[in-house]
Amino acid sequence: MATRTMVYVGRDRVQVGPWKAAGTTANLIPYPERDRLSVDAVHKAIDEAVDRGFTNGYTAALSPSQAEPFFEAGFVLHEELHLLRRELGDEVNVTRGATRRARRIDWDEVLELDALAFQDFWQFDRVALADAVRATPRHRFQVIKSAPVFGYHITGLAGLDAYIQRVAVHPDAQRLGYGAALVNDSLRWAWRNGATTVQVNTQITNDRAVGLYERCGFTFAPHRLLVLHHDFARGDRGEAATPPIYT
Ligand SMILES: CC(C)(COP(=O)(O)OP(=O)(O)OC[C@H]1O[C@@H](n2cnc3c(N)ncnc32)[C@H](O)[C@@H]1OP(=O)(O)O)[C@@H](O)C(=O)NCCC(=O)NCCS
Repeated sequence: MATRTMVYVGRDRVQVGPWKAAGTTANLIPYPERDRLSVDAVHKAIDEAVDRGFTNGYTAALSPSQAEPFFEAGFVLHEELHLLRRELGDEVNVTRGATRRARRIDWDEVLELDALAFQDFWQFDRVALADAVRATPRHRFQVIKSAPVFGYHITGLAGLDAYIQRVAVHPDAQRLGYGAALVNDSLRWAWRNGATTVQVNTQITNDRAVGLYERCGFTFAPHRLLVLHHDFARGDRGEAATPPIYT
């Protein structure tokens, strides 16, 4: 069950894989990311997940239009996320020498601090960390220059778009400016490598993160992102759930 497969219906694709390295929860990721999938593709992905022994599944963070076919196939809202964006016009000032490139040897400490910084549902395991690094054609993975590692960020770049995949600071080292140092490093790298926009998402209850991103020049996108859940055993396939209304 640990591997991923791609389910195809016409031009629609849905990747079906495990949510965490172990367990019976699936992760469903639709491609291409900017289009709306057919409901058939979602049903086929559910069938694939069930055949592979998954009992339930979460989607990736979806835009409201991406979420529609998942709602139609019986998924329900699990959590909404803020989406924030920042245009990159000028070079961003960084605290020189605050971060360094992450090495393989740092991964254990990075995963330890990630587990302390995030609640269970959002914690990274080794596979999720590797996925975040591989998610885009180019990436930057930096840690705070400290022993042990106090914080890290992973930022991805695809074309002109940069994505802050992860920022976390050890709870004992928060409110000392490390979060801002990480975000500014991310922004400067993205700008230097030709990105025109940086995006990040965060939980709507995460005031700390929102405050940090706003101080670093981010503003809210017009819509939120949605993480959906489906309990495959409930057999509610085909009964369309009512999606939330966005204005
Ligand atoms: C969000 C997060 C990364 C912020 O990290 P951080 O290192 O605390 O960030 P900073 O220190 O740069 O800024 C945080 C606060 O400390 C304040 N601060 C910074 N330096 C300071 C200093 N020297 N003295 C006093 N306060 C200071 C900032 O003004 C800011 O104030 P606020 O809490 O009112 O917004 C951290 O809280 C975290 O890891 N949270 C859990 C994981 C998470 O949510 N990640 C983001 C998800 S997308």
